[in-house]
Amino acid sequence: MIDKKNIILCVTGSIAAYKSVYLSSALVKSGANVQVILSKSAKNFVGESSFSGITHNPVITGYYDSKTDLSIDHIDIAKKADLIVVAPATANILAKISLGISSDPIVGCILASKAPVIVAPAMDGDMYNSPQVQKHINELRRINIHLSGPEKGRLASGINEFGRMTEPEDLLEEIIEKLSKKKDYEKINAIVTAGGTIEEIDPVRYISNKSSGKMGIAIAKALRDRGAKVTLIHGKLENKSDTYGIRMVSVISALEMKKEIENHVENSQLLIMSAAVADYRVKNFSKEKIKKESMNSIELEKNPDILKEIDGNKIVKVGFAAESEKLLENAKKKLSSKNCKMIVANDITLEGSGFGSDNNKAVLIDENGQENLPLMNKIKLAHKILDRAKKYIN
Ligand code: CTP
Repeated sequence: MIDKKNIILCVTGSIAAYKSVYLSSALVKSGANVQVILSKSAKNFVGESSFSGITHNPVITGYYDSKTDLSIDHIDIAKKADLIVVAPATANILAKISLGISSDPIVGCILASKAPVIVAPAMDGDMYNSPQVQKHINELRRINIHLSGPEKGRLASGINEFGRMTEPEDLLEEIIEKLSKKKDYEKINAIVTAGGTIEEIDPVRYISNKSSGKMGIAIAKALRDRGAKVTLIHGKLENKSDTYGIRMVSVISALEMKKEIENHVENSQLLIMSAAVADYRVKNFSKEKIKKESMNSIELEKNPDILKEIDGNKIVKVGFAAESEKLLENAKKKLSSKNCKMIVANDITLEGSGFGSDNNKAVLIDENGQENLPLMNKIKLAHKILDRAKKYIN
């Protein structure tokens, strides 16, 4: 998978730098062309000649030490890179990457490249947990930089905490996975919906549901990573991190969600409807806060079934079925009544699965039959859904 791939390995000043010597060797053995950039402080832990001997490439150690016949070393390798790995990454380099401070060739190279970036932090546990480092970690996640580790274990400072760099064997696996990501949705415009809609009663009260939006976000991210242009139309979400590159459209009610979907349908080929749409809205929204004495009952009226009303001949529709009984029977009914190509059926009564959880156990149902999937994290499930839905696109 990584044969002939150009990988830039950036090594910064941590005691874990010795692990990167092993990593560079494992990458070369797997066929990759490895270009190492060594920070000034990394040279206190590992030598330039270890890396040049293993990679057969000159090691870049500064902006002005050109040893190659490239015109500008860090820019040239940045443009050719398939992947950039920063391992070990100190608190200092995390802050610089997050802020774009390009005072050394590592950040310069990351800024000049379109390649994906994996960062493997290594530092003292208390340093790692400090608000400053966590702020930068969150920013890196937001801009779609992949964080590997750190792992919990005995640190150089003697404490047993999170701060150990990911072991080179595991990092190698993550690198292989990142480079082998399929781009099979490359020319697709996709609409994904997520989260629960809100139906307002008065200025302070509303009706909603338990949806966290995690499944829809996982699908949007998987589509983005597989090359699609994604619009995520969402209601209430628990967490919006790592949605870089996804067009986010926030709505409140089911009617607003329907309008936004209709606005995007014409230019899209795929609609994945994972939002928990409220089936009813309040008939008479009160502009004034309703006094408790006068709130004996709320009259409701039916919301449109959005998925059903969107024309299945114009766009490939994938729906969800949240069921607490007769899972397959109900899900199959939804497949035909909503004119979908596929239904992702969830048993919402299963522990550790469904609403709010990071995991989900689903059955994928389409005209060809059903695929019973085991409990898995929502990102993995998102990829399974896309693997099966692919045949309906084009
Ligand atoms: N859905 C929709 N509009 C609604 C209700 C649901 O588009 N007003 C979509 C959901 O996003 C999901 C699918 O329809 O993709 C099935 O939703 P679900 O809540 O399982 O079923 P309902 O159609 O609401 O039917 P019931 O609540 O009776 O099971």
